[in-house]
Amino acid sequence: MARPFHLGWFLQGSSVQAWGEPWTGAIGRDWMVPELFCDMARALERACFDYILIEDSSYVGESYGGSREIYLRNGLSVPRQDPSVIATLMAAQTKRIGIVPTLSTFAYPPYLLARLVATLDQISSGRIGWNMVTGSSDVAAMNYGLPGMPEHDLRYDMADEYMAAVNGLWDSWEPGAIQADTESGMLVDHTKVHPAPFEGRWYKTRGPLNSGPCPQGRPVIAQAGGSPRGRQFASLHADTIVASVKGTAAMRAYREDVRARAAAQGRDPDSIKVLFLVNPILGDTREEAELRKRQKLARAEAHVPRLLAHFGKTTNIDFSKYDLDTPVDQLDLHTNGHQQSLDDFKRVAGKRSLRQAMMAYRGIPGSVDLLGTPDEVAGQMAEAMEEVGGDGFLMSLPDVSRRAVAEIADGLVPALQARGLTRRAYGHAQFRDNLLEF
Ligand SMILES: Cc1cc2nc3c(=O)[nH]c(=O)nc-3n(C[C@H](O)[C@H](O)[C@H](O)COP(=O)(O)O)c2cc1C
Repeated sequence: MARPFHLGWFLQGSSVQAWGEPWTGAIGRDWMVPELFCDMARALERACFDYILIEDSSYVGESYGGSREIYLRNGLSVPRQDPSVIATLMAAQTKRIGIVPTLSTFAYPPYLLARLVATLDQISSGRIGWNMVTGSSDVAAMNYGLPGMPEHDLRYDMADEYMAAVNGLWDSWEPGAIQADTESGMLVDHTKVHPAPFEGRWYKTRGPLNSGPCPQGRPVIAQAGGSPRGRQFASLHADTIVASVKGTAAMRAYREDVRARAAAQGRDPDSIKVLFLVNPILGDTREEAELRKRQKLARAEAHVPRLLAHFGKTTNIDFSKYDLDTPVDQLDLHTNGHQQSLDDFKRVAGKRSLRQAMMAYRGIPGSVDLLGTPDEVAGQMAEAMEEVGGDGFLMSLPDVSRRAVAEIADGLVPALQARGLTRRAYGHAQFRDNLLEF
């Protein structure tokens, strides 16, 4: 029997993800009270997912044509709610699933972040992760009074320092510090709570943390940086990595690279779970799934500028200035934003035109194509994992609706479980223990 793999959901923010798509009810009116995402958390917990990651950015896109119109008109990552609030609601409605809000280091002083995440870990009984991002947009930086984002590799140097500061704060409470001894009257043993003085080039803090400790010791750290410097960072700090690369050969190479970097930095490579973004297209029959794929592609083709605007938001590139029929290899594309995503796009593009390249890259997003009945897709996922070596998948459906969630949680997952590919029950109470279970 194959080794089981992990499942997560990469939720593209607490935002109206499926505006204009079928089966979305009154999403344009209901989104402020995020019942959809709370229902989703419960459904994915029934399906024994490891975690839901709530992606985030804290600005309204404006890179496409220097205008906010395409983003606002079509709900592209806006309106977008604060992920720590949504994580709190999700945690309150669940018992086992891991919840991973994205919090950006440029926006939170280390103490504020360490305290917020420790509080979330406490109220969820040890089920919180932190998607550790540095931010990549100058517009976001300006929202916080900064002139712009530091240069790409420098951001990771700063992030290494940031990790040292927050790890010190989380470690400021030794295990056993909380005595809660009614006989002696001692709540906390003060000899087990220490300051965490930190003074680096960019960050400074003192400690100890007044929230008390994380039940997990430290939260689960998720990371998505894919450039060489990003991978170096992730392989040192992350418990789980969000990987966005196309094709099983690139997936395998990515995972092996991260594992080798982890080992070289003295970590057990098995303590990092690399999960790959996928977007399965399911049907009751293969024909129905193929029909749905054609429908999705036709919708994407009608909205290539939207796909480009979305991609331009994370790469800070104004794609509106290029003719859609220009071959991508004739464009001079660079970014101080998501470098690995841009490299992957160029690799997928080859000699294709901008329109064709975007369709190939994001028409149906995902690391591998998954299409068919639940049982067929389960088989395709098993095959991909066999070729890649591990460790699992992150659903990244761009059109989150209750129907889309049910298809995965109540359609695909039982087929995976029937093949012994994913868990039928959580083995542990805390997030990291479940993540490291296999
Ligand atoms: C799949 C994926 C998801 C990401 N999610 C976020 C996010 O939610 N918020 C954010 O600020 N950055 C996010 N990032 C950006 C990364 O954390 C990183 O800053 C960016 O990829 C640039 O790093 P790189 O050039 O090393 O890839 C994401 C990147 C990828 C590839």
